[in-house]
Amino acid sequence: MCDREFQNLPDIITIDGPAASGKSTIGNLIANKFGYICLDTGIMYRAVACQALRESLDISDELLISQLAERISIDILPSSNNDGRQFDVIIDGVDLTWDIRSNEVNQNVSEVSVYPRVRNAMTELQRNIAKKGKIVMIGRDIGTVVLPQADLKIYLEASAEVRAQRRYVEDLARGKKVCFGDVLESIKHRDEIDTGRAVAPLKPADDSVIVDSDQMTVYEVVERILDLIAG
Ligand code: DC
Repeated sequence: MCDREFQNLPDIITIDGPAASGKSTIGNLIANKFGYICLDTGIMYRAVACQALRESLDISDELLISQLAERISIDILPSSNNDGRQFDVIIDGVDLTWDIRSNEVNQNVSEVSVYPRVRNAMTELQRNIAKKGKIVMIGRDIGTVVLPQADLKIYLEASAEVRAQRRYVEDLARGKKVCFGDVLESIKHRDEIDTGRAVAPLKPADDSVIVDSDQMTVYEVVERILDLIAG
């Protein structure tokens, strides 16, 4: 990263975008650069889906899933393990860091995140975490609904094929048995639900900066965002 003058750092930076668009990697790099915290809100929706599956709840039962979201305890803590994780994700006292990334959770998380009471519960938690500022918050509706007052809003775009390719390589590197066609299909399925839902659909905020990363490396995207921060 080249040296720039950073005056008037934005207190809150939001990064929204579709599944596997690189939000988490990029958000963490930006947050580390400025000593900010980085919250990937996808973890919270994944936690609800994961716990629902663990409790064998019917994912299509909106009331049961909403009640779960309103009582669940989700702690995102510094990593206690060097197995490649960035954080520990503790759900109702149990370490489920990797479980929230399972195929089963991938298949069910978008459905869970359509429910308005689930979204309200997660939005309230997210706003409380953002109160202290100095935060990069990542998700689908952060710039539009959760923190519309944010100083800098990024919307990260990339084609479904490019995102599936990146996710496929990541999964293989983690030793997960995957097939490219399934990864692509799962990403397209989630895009459809995330953009089509009635409450807080995935879309860029009117005042967001859209960064299309199809032809860009992670470091080029980070440089572009640092340029925006430097003004
Ligand atoms: O970013 P991710 O793939 O970990 O997100 C998992 C799911 O969570 C995604 O399919 C939609 C949902 N989500 C959401 O609805 N709103 C957010 N702010 C973050 C994630």
